[in-house]
Amino acid sequence: MTGLLLTGQILLAQDKTINPGAIWPDSDGNHIQAHGGGIIKIKGTYFWYGEERRKGLDSNFRYVSCYSSTDLINWKFRNDVVKMSDPENLGKGWILERPKVFFNAETKKYVMYFHLDDVTYQYARVGIAISDRADGNFRFVKSLRPLGRPSRDIGQFIDDDGSAFLIFEDRELGFHIAQLSADYMNVEKEMCLIKMPLEGGALVHFEGLYYVIGSQLSGWAPNPNKYATSKTLTGPWTAFNDIAPPGSNTYQSQSTMMLKVVGTNATAVIFMADQWNPSHQSDSRYLWMPLEIGKGKLWLPKPQPWTIDLKEGAVKLVSKKQ
Ligand code: DGJ
Repeated sequence: MTGLLLTGQILLAQDKTINPGAIWPDSDGNHIQAHGGGIIKIKGTYFWYGEERRKGLDSNFRYVSCYSSTDLINWKFRNDVVKMSDPENLGKGWILERPKVFFNAETKKYVMYFHLDDVTYQYARVGIAISDRADGNFRFVKSLRPLGRPSRDIGQFIDDDGSAFLIFEDRELGFHIAQLSADYMNVEKEMCLIKMPLEGGALVHFEGLYYVIGSQLSGWAPNPNKYATSKTLTGPWTAFNDIAPPGSNTYQSQSTMMLKVVGTNATAVIFMADQWNPSHQSDSRYLWMPLEIGKGKLWLPKPQPWTIDLKEGAVKLVSKKQ
């Protein structure tokens, strides 16, 4: 759904709704390439980082894109903030997935974590890159195994007090939530280990409860994502329940993040997920929907176009006929 905005002499097409599962054009009209992504907000601007998978990339490199927005609906491509050649002799088909960026208010550095792997997914480490600017370029610093454990899918979480956490999947043990060091350059402290085989980890803190989401381990194929809650990050966590009708396989999507938008009238929590298309990754889509959440329950409504007023925090489902 598009409106026209007159700015000086330029007529800009402005989208008014988020359309889950559809091609999502950026402000240049290109489908957004920010898969397995994460979002941070810096002074009223949202930055969305993700796997850059557009057609025609140089296969020797891995790329991370950065987009910016002030309404979460219209996104401007800023830069490929990472264009990296194989940093640790991982060989052909090496992997950079699920980049997540944290801004450190003390050091003023943007610190990116990403899943770094070889083609067989056995290296299982996180890579860390830094930048002085939100839109790059990021410089590779090192890789590590967080808390000494193998790590594949990662997720990010910033609590209401600004503390930063990495969620990472450890195939042998489960799903870790761990706090970053003060400069964000290390994974320092285990908050909890959830002994469930879950990936695509995401967390949100809403009305005094933590809600964690993960998908099951089925490669690129979607499955019923699940959630649990706890009063503290250290647990105990409730049993896991489905976030959507299990037969829908999370409406063909896999979680990557939950974003909380605190407005003057309401607080929205947005489920952000990927609809992967493994044989044509550049055509992978996004399923973003406001969640029904509260009092220990979380539910992903059936995907449909919606809009959000960031100031008020109000979301509105938009009927397709409009
Ligand atoms: C599932 C993960 O969530 C994705 O990020 C990717 O690593 C695929 N597995 C690869 O099969």
